Amino acid sequence: MDIIRVEGGHALAGSVCVSGAKNSALKLMAATLLAPGVTTLQNVPNISDVHVMGKVLKRMGATIEVADEHSLVIDTSNVDSWEAPYELVAKMRASTAVMGPLLGRFGRAKIAMPGGCNLGARKIDMHILGLEALGVKFDTDHGYIHADASEGLIGANVTLEFASVGATENLIMAAVRARGTTVIDNAAREPEIVDLANMLNSMGAKIVGAGTPVVQIEGVKELHPTTHRVIGDRIEAGTFIVAGALAAGEDGIEVRGFNSNHLGMVIKKFELMGIDIEHIEGGVRVRRAERILPVDIQTLPFPGFPTDMQAQAMVLSALADGSSVITENIFENRFMFASELVRMGADIRIESHHAMIHGVKGFSGAQVVSPDLRGGAALVVAGLVADGYTEVSAIHHIDRGYEHFVKKLEDLGACVQRATIPDPTDE
Ligand code: EPU
Repeated sequence: MDIIRVEGGHALAGSVCVSGAKNSALKLMAATLLAPGVTTLQNVPNISDVHVMGKVLKRMGATIEVADEHSLVIDTSNVDSWEAPYELVAKMRASTAVMGPLLGRFGRAKIAMPGGCNLGARKIDMHILGLEALGVKFDTDHGYIHADASEGLIGANVTLEFASVGATENLIMAAVRARGTTVIDNAAREPEIVDLANMLNSMGAKIVGAGTPVVQIEGVKELHPTTHRVIGDRIEAGTFIVAGALAAGEDGIEVRGFNSNHLGMVIKKFELMGIDIEHIEGGVRVRRAERILPVDIQTLPFPGFPTDMQAQAMVLSALADGSSVITENIFENRFMFASELVRMGADIRIESHHAMIHGVKGFSGAQVVSPDLRGGAALVVAGLVADGYTEVSAIHHIDRGYEHFVKKLEDLGACVQRATIPDPTDE
């Protein structure tokens, strides 16, 4: 089994450049289905979730050429299937992002029902309600959702019950090809949605208001291929900021390749925790905090504190001088990471969707299991300042979203390596 082994206590220095945003790239890849022809995506992260989305598109008849490590040339001219099969959706829920584009292009989609995941039940009822308002008829059998809009999509007003990222994206990608105008109220405002709307507009769509709670989409007859550069990954950036705040040497570290406005609330909260973050061209410089102050954080849709930074923030607060509270409002099951951090000496009590964290003096290296993508990365970061060795297993979770994570940490001066070890539970 593969693990990441970290020896704590090595100071970080230098600069790290984050990759393109996973949660943008996946949706932009899906959006290429809307424009028959060759679309080029640049700054695409080389991560396993992107590989899975590549398989989804290929299964439908697209061809993908990897022009360089970070540029994908996707030809959707010969796409002739509208099915996202179970084995791929089960690997990656974000495969459901093809539903909107398939409805937009073919008026139909057959998508395996995603089921729950390690963050909770994760329903897609809001996607379905919104698409129904656009005239889509849904049916389910044998674990598949059949969506039919063969008579055409019709623009409508849709108010989302919650500002869901995935529902907003699927609705936008269907509405760009609807007859008439669609207005999405209480839309998600994440930077990845703005990135998607920018790409669709460069393909000929007419979307205004992306990044605000009201997005208006005037349907068009066709979309054409384009070339688009994926925005930098704000969550990867935030993860390295936490690494710097804990382990940087005297000069701090630079985290580049992203727009620091996309981390507004994270930077604000970290500054309240006493972390020195300086804005520089193309990113930030972060210095090690001599004393971390306790904090009260609630995860919320953008521009609130992102749930995808919750575990990393918990690592910081676990070493604070005092008691912190972190409230998870987005996912029902995103505290699994806490019990692993407790194995490293943290003092955390979970009550429903609140975590009460009493700061301790330090972590002690241990064998821990990556519970999910962000939790896994956060455990590696905790290992940077732990006493002795930390071994993080189940690192396929980390590979889903962090490109060359070990190499980037190594380049900053961390003592970290990937290793293959025998599974200790095997006889
Ligand atoms: N929800 C419903 N019904 C729906 C849609 C969502 O109940 O129809 C619930 C979900 O179960 C969840 C909450 O609403 O509890 C938020 O879900 P949302 O739709 O906003 O999230 P998502 O689109 O499924 C994306 C990211 C997540 C990120 C969230 C929130 C991708 C591929 N995933 O998920 O990223 O945490 O938005 O910002 O874009 C990650 O990268 O580690 C990750 C989990």
